[in-house]
Formats: sequence, structure tokens, C-alpha cells
Amino acid sequence: MCGIVGYIGEKEKRDFLLGGLKELEYRGYDSAGIAVLKEGEISSFKATGKLSNLVSKTEDFSSEGFGIGIGHTRWATHGKPTEANAHPHWGQFSYVIHNGIIENYKEIKEQFLPHIPFLSQTDTEVIVHLFEYFVNESTSGFEAFEKTVAHLHGAYAILLITQKEPDVIFFAKNAVPLILGRNNTGEIFFGSSDAPLIGFAKEVSYLEDGQYGFAKANVVSLFENKIAQNLHYKPLTHDKLFAQKDGYRYFMEKEIYEQSSVVTETLMGRIKGNEVVLDELAGMDVTGFNAIKICACGTSYHAGLAASYLFERLSKVRCSVEIASEFRYKEPLLDPKTLFIVISQSGETADTLEALKMAQKSGMPTLAICNVDNSSIVRTADATLLTRAGIEKGVASTKAFATQMMTLWLLSLYVGHHRNAIGTEKMNEEMKALLHIPLVLKVDEAIHEKLHRLSKRYLHGHGFFFIGRDIFFPLALEGALKLKEISYLHAEGYPAGEMKHGPIALADSELFTIALMPRTLLYDKIKSNVQELSARDSTLLVISPEPFELSDDFIQTHAHTHPMAEFFEMMVITQLLALEISIRLGNDVDMPRNLAKSVTVE
Ligand code: AGP
Repeated sequence: MCGIVGYIGEKEKRDFLLGGLKELEYRGYDSAGIAVLKEGEISSFKATGKLSNLVSKTEDFSSEGFGIGIGHTRWATHGKPTEANAHPHWGQFSYVIHNGIIENYKEIKEQFLPHIPFLSQTDTEVIVHLFEYFVNESTSGFEAFEKTVAHLHGAYAILLITQKEPDVIFFAKNAVPLILGRNNTGEIFFGSSDAPLIGFAKEVSYLEDGQYGFAKANVVSLFENKIAQNLHYKPLTHDKLFAQKDGYRYFMEKEIYEQSSVVTETLMGRIKGNEVVLDELAGMDVTGFNAIKICACGTSYHAGLAASYLFERLSKVRCSVEIASEFRYKEPLLDPKTLFIVISQSGETADTLEALKMAQKSGMPTLAICNVDNSSIVRTADATLLTRAGIEKGVASTKAFATQMMTLWLLSLYVGHHRNAIGTEKMNEEMKALLHIPLVLKVDEAIHEKLHRLSKRYLHGHGFFFIGRDIFFPLALEGALKLKEISYLHAEGYPAGEMKHGPIALADSELFTIALMPRTLLYDKIKSNVQELSARDSTLLVISPEPFELSDDFIQTHAHTHPMAEFFEMMVITQLLALEISIRLGNDVDMPRNLAKSVTVE
């Protein structure tokens, strides 16, 4: 998830672009760059690391007077966070910045650009070279740009400038946001969100998927499928923090609603036909190990626990899961024929990093499932699969967990396929379910409203049990952690089958039990567990596609045919439940007490 800004006008372009990128810092970045075209000359600057590095690099650069400019903060998906991979990317006479993933960049390179010397490892660079390829056979820059966009598959928000037409910014939008702003001085502004435009643009237009065009001072031409469109403007908010939250109350709420789109990015370029393609693992022999050990902390541990069911069920590989802080000191027996997988959103969790180093010292092949490229864990592991959740501002992890689960599910199918452990019919069934998940993750507003209403009943009591079976047991652990983290109420996740081995002694009307009752997995078993609790007067919130007459509260989910679809839908519900209870209690949802976003100490 990158951030892009653009500007046409008389203002000092460096200041506007860098100020705009600063407003996009919340989207996360590992490198940044700008390009300014003025009086026919293009000046470009790029820097890795903090935005301040780019500010320092450009402090002697002045760009007063009429001109155009583009700026970009990068969150790496293809290619390491290096200056060469930072945007803008350039050709002979043009520069481009891009947010999203061009799925068919390799095919474009092979078909149109076999002799072009690429300077970066990114998918983005094909855009500027393809544009320049078409310029040679087009009567205008726009015709070349239109041909370029027509060949792109995937998600993109693009700004492109060229010396061929020095007063024009070409733009295109598909599947990721791009906002165009204007004011009454004829200036034109672009941004990945409202934030960079506040204080400059008076009104904005939220471009739609498939729209593209070109902008000059005072004039914007918009097209869709080669047909001219009208731009619909609306007044721009003046509250920057409100804009960064995209109108949600908290970053955590925004990130729950973002899960559908970020999981779509997690999938980008990793599904070819009915096969999982993980280029990042090209150098890893996934048939060369005879077991998997997963190691992580907190929410990432819960993702690992859920994934262990998938590795044994789909990949037919024995899988164990460890809590990193325990693993480090238990004098574990480590086998070099075991693949060691660490899962970490931040890539900086001390216990997980040290566990990774222990595994490497013992000669185990290591793989990181991580959200931050160039983090300590990524730099240490033999290979990495990036989860592509974008920056997660809420301390309580939501979209990072969702993208970890998707990445691990993809990995279990990839390993199963390469080990001939999954037949074609089963693979087709899994792929169909997997591709449906972005839709499953779209928040059902009616369910959110119902959770808001019923949350008022759960503000006291002597505690919560979240119970589930199979992959819904790790989900129960995760639901309990979410609630604990942001409401400060006691909650624990438990295997539903274990309640009768002691915890059911706690059952009374003051004990709130959140029961995850999927229809596609062990329904009769979980149903009898819940009936045992109901018979002892426990207050029950049942989450299930099947109405359950003994529940005190009931959230009806959709009738899915695959357990993972039920898993992801129930995940959203437990996240929203924790959010609404925390809001009612007046807590700081995004910055809960005593917690840090990254636990870099033991
Ligand atoms: C999750 O909501 C928590 N913030 C915490 O448990 C977190 O998952 C844990 O600290 C691990 O962090 P990591 O994924 O960055 O390694």
C-alpha cells in the first residue's frame, strides 16, 4: 500500500509534494521519491528509509513557478526497499509513480520490452517503458497513455509525466484509491487519500475503477472505456486526522473495513489459473523438508496455530507451533529437515527474531511471513512472503492477521501442490473458496450495527470465554485477545471440547460465552458443547449460520460452503465486537494502555 501525490500549478512543488507525502506517512513506507517537470526539465530525487532523508536530499532544490510534480511513498511488494526500486521510475523522457500491483508485468516485459534495460526489480517500471513504446506509434501522449493502461492487469493508481507534454499529468485508477482535487486558481491536485489535499483543494473527485485521463491547469479530461466522462466533485473535509482515518472513528475500525481490499492485494500476482504461484519461494525446495515448525507471538501465534491445521490437512506435512518466548528457552530439539516458519507483522518482535536465529544456527531452512520488508526478521530469514497489509496503525492487529491467514493458506496449497499432496478437484475447491474471501471480508453493516447495539450488554460480568473447535479454536484465542487488548475485560479462548474438563465450573449467568459455531466443520460437536454451557445458565452469544434457540444473543453469518470462509467472516465479527465494547467503555481503541505496536524487547 503506497501513497501518491501530484500537483499542477505555480506553487513551490517540492514543498507541496513532500508535505503531501508526510500526510500519507500513515499508509506506511520504506522509501520515497519526487519528480518535478518545469520549463521542459525533469528533476527527480529518491531516498530509502524515513521521509526526512528525502527532505534532506532536496533541501537545495527549488521549483517555484509553473510546473507539474509527482511524489510517492513506497511499501514494498515487488523488490526490496532500495533507491533503485523507489518511485518515480523513468524511461527516456517520462516518469511514473504507481500504487498497487501490475499482475501481468512479466508478460508485458516479454511481449513489448525484451530489449529494455530495467533499472529496478519492480512491476511498476514496465508502465513508463510501455508508455514510451506506444509514444513512437501514437499521435499524442494521451493516445500512448490510453494504450498503456489498456494493457495493464491488476490494481493501480498511476501518475505519469513526460517531457513530450510538459504541462500534463496522465492518470489512471483501478482497485486502489486515487483522488483528484481542484481549487478556484486552476491548480490541480492528486492524492491517494484526502489528507494531502486538505488546505489546498476546495473540492475533490473520487475516481472510479477503470477511469483514466489527463490533467492540465484548469482542465481535466476523464475517460472510461474510451468514452469521455464527467467528473463529479464534492467539498473536501478540513480535518486531516479524520481524513487519514477515511472517516472512521479509529484506525482499527478503518483497518477492519480495509481487510477486503488488502487481502485482495495479498492475492495479487499469486494466483495463476488454478495454481498458487509464489515467486518469492523460487529458491526454496518445498519437497525437501519432512515437517514444519511455526514460531510467533500474540496474534501472529494464533495465525500460526490456525495454519497448522491447514499444513497437516492440505499439505500433508506434520506441523507444530511454538510461542517464541517459550521456544527460546526450552532447549528445543531442532531438526534441519524441518522448515522453520516465523510469523510477524512488524518483523521486529524480539522473541520471534531470536527464535529465528536459533533455528538458523541449527541449520533449519527458514521462512518469514511478514508485513514489513527490510525488517530485522525479513533480513534474517532465508526467504520471505510479504503479507501486503500496508501499515497497521491500530495496536490491536486486524488486517495483519487477515493477510497472515491468507498468505499461510496460499502457502499450504503451494506446498501441497508441489508435494503432490492435493488432487486437482480438491485444489479447485480450495481456490474457489480462496478467491471468494475478499467478498466475505466486506463488512456487513447490519451485523456491525447489531454488534454495536448488543455490545452494551457485555460491559461487566466476571469474564468471557471464546470457544471454538479445529481452526476456530485459534480464532477463539484471537477473539479473546482482541477483546482483552482494547476493552481491558478478562477473556480467554478455549477449545470447546475442553470446557467440560474444568472451565465449565465457571458457568453462570455472569459468564459470557462467545461460541463460534460454523456449519461446515464439527457443527454437531460444537453444538453439544454449547448446549452444556446453556444448561448451566451461561450467557451465550452464538455466531453461526444456523439459528440456535438456546442463545441469549445470536449473530447469523452467511451459509458458506468452506470452513475458511466461515473463519474469515467470524473473524470480522469478533473484531467488531471487541471494537464496539471498547468504544462503549471509552477506551483508546488505537492506543490501548500498556501495549506497543512492536514488542522489540523480551
Ligand atoms: C496483536 O493484536 C498484538 N498487538 C500482539 O499480540 C502482536 O500480535 C504480537 O506482539 C506479535 O507482533 P508481531 O506480529 O509484530 O511479531
